[in-house]
Amino acid sequence: MTGSMLNVMLKYVCISATVGVALYATLIWLLTTASFQAHVVYLHKIQMTWFRDLDVPEMFGFLYNQVTPFSIKVSDGEALYAWHVLPLELYREHEASLLDEPSGFVSDITSSLAFKLLRDDPEARLVLHFHGAAGTVGSGYRTPNYRALSAGQPRKIHVLTFDYRGFGRSKGEPSESSMILDALAVVNWATNVASIPPSRILIFGQSLGTAVSIAISEHFALQSPPLLFAGTVLVAPFVDVMSLMATYRVAGTIPLVSPLVRFPRLFNYLGTFVRDKWSSKDRIARYIRANEASGNKYRLTLIHAEDDWDISWHHTPKLFWHAVNATVPAGIAYDELEAKKDERKKYLGAAGSFVEWRTENGVIREEILKYGLHDVIMGYPIITLAAMRIFTAADSSFR
Ligand SMILES: *[C@@H]1O[C@H](CO)[C@@H](O)[C@H](O)[C@H]1NC(C)=O
Repeated sequence: MTGSMLNVMLKYVCISATVGVALYATLIWLLTTASFQAHVVYLHKIQMTWFRDLDVPEMFGFLYNQVTPFSIKVSDGEALYAWHVLPLELYREHEASLLDEPSGFVSDITSSLAFKLLRDDPEARLVLHFHGAAGTVGSGYRTPNYRALSAGQPRKIHVLTFDYRGFGRSKGEPSESSMILDALAVVNWATNVASIPPSRILIFGQSLGTAVSIAISEHFALQSPPLLFAGTVLVAPFVDVMSLMATYRVAGTIPLVSPLVRFPRLFNYLGTFVRDKWSSKDRIARYIRANEASGNKYRLTLIHAEDDWDISWHHTPKLFWHAVNATVPAGIAYDELEAKKDERKKYLGAAGSFVEWRTENGVIREEILKYGLHDVIMGYPIITLAAMRIFTAADSSFR
């Protein structure tokens, strides 16, 4: 190779490296703007159900009229697109009448038979479902998730799922405060319109939805008088947005901000630009403290799969620690708790492990699966059991 060829090659390497660094710097700079951040965190414009009509739930594998699409009003004037999913056995019992009703979006949910089956049954249970980033009520593993949630008692467990503002057919722009407002509207609908008392309601969230779930669980536990749901289930939760950025990989492969963790000052400086912090670790601690203080019986389950490449499963033991720490007056160190957990943990081979922390008032349960990825896990029987465990603990007559 001649000297001049080597020079030319070196020049190209230098240019491409400079372009690469410049592009990355631009990306990081963009990330400091609130609207770009919102798109990265919420991915709400990525619908994934583009060629199917959410008003025709049969396109997503449901029976005729098993799902009723409708809309829920939020206090600030926005409207949320929602689905009420009937459990299968209840559907079978009322099949003839359901087939006589038109299917599709209803402007007055209270006139639908499905709704009356929910409201008028004193045994009915309701799962309020808070989905993760991107997509809609009909995307990906969310639909098998609704089936798994009611599979334990398919006569009684209904599911209410909705799109936060800015997602799918719900207009507006998502943010931490507005999504919490959306969640409050959904709880309000459940307790006031559907007339289901909180003791028959389970809060279920996955991924980003776990942050919303813990936020409203905390909100109601802190209100006076406190209001407590049957329980809260969090699948693939995260500690807070900064810790998530430190480990997050787009599509499980491309690290976004995590390379900057090696430069703590720069990383922390970037953190000051994060608008929506979603500090579940603080909220989970306040939620537990409030319940321990009020003496209300609470049940909190955290589930994560070790092969979750989107949100590392290590977030779950950290959140578990923040929750347990709030039950110990003097606090407990992370390693000390891990040692205690080791003594109590039940190992189930390829099914993973679980451990429970019980106080006089509550149960905090951690389930770490070996397999389940980030979202496939939602359709697994572990989800069915988590819902049943909570409903039966909240009311021993439930079966
Ligand atoms: C753990 O609990 C103690 C006592 O309430 C508190 O002082 C401490 O800040 C908590 N630790 C964390 C990491 O939240």
